Amino acid sequence: MEVFEAARTVLAVRAYQNKPVPPETVRRIVESAWLTASSINGQPWHFIVVEERAVLDKIAALARTGRYIAQAPLVVVVGMETSRYAISDASRAIQSMVLTAWSEGVGSNWVGFQGLEAVNPLLGIPPEISVLAVVPFGYPVKRLGKGRKNRKPLGQVAHLGRFGMPFA
Ligand SMILES: Cc1cc2nc3c(=O)[nH]c(=O)nc-3n(C[C@H](O)[C@H](O)[C@H](O)COP(=O)(O)O)c2cc1C
Repeated sequence: MEVFEAARTVLAVRAYQNKPVPPETVRRIVESAWLTASSINGQPWHFIVVEERAVLDKIAALARTGRYIAQAPLVVVVGMETSRYAISDASRAIQSMVLTAWSEGVGSNWVGFQGLEAVNPLLGIPPEISVLAVVPFGYPVKRLGKGRKNRKPLGQVAHLGRFGMPFA
């Protein structure tokens, strides 16, 4: 899939078919995160791939904003080392994974921010590494409205030359 087409059509996928994601696709998803650029090339991240059903169920129970993780065939837990750039670096790596997956027909979503500290002991992640997000992946149950997104008008957020001058 062409890059803009992937950015144009990707959507948050919260329901997954009961179908495994092939190992070569999983590998590409993880490599896309690994190869992502980071500030001063610090790479302050860790990607824990979880495919074991019982563990996925436990993560789902912890993730208050992502109970649907329980249906996913796999998740990547994204941990950050202590670095002032960690959130931006790890966020960019997540976007690499989301777009790489989508280009192969695999949906995903960012699940974050609430209750994720409890993932550390479950997966043996050292306490100095904070979990930014859990990203479930799987083939979407529904064909999602390709390219139909609920977004503010482009002219409201894109400016040309000077704030307030409409780009579009
Ligand atoms: C930083 C970030 C955090 C998010 N956290 C959650 C979350 O915890 N649970 C969830 O179901 N969706 C989460 N989402 C998905 C957004 O709600 C979703 O992308 C947004 O509503 C736009 O929908 P769309 O991606 O389908 O266009 C998150 C997205 C981002 C970028």
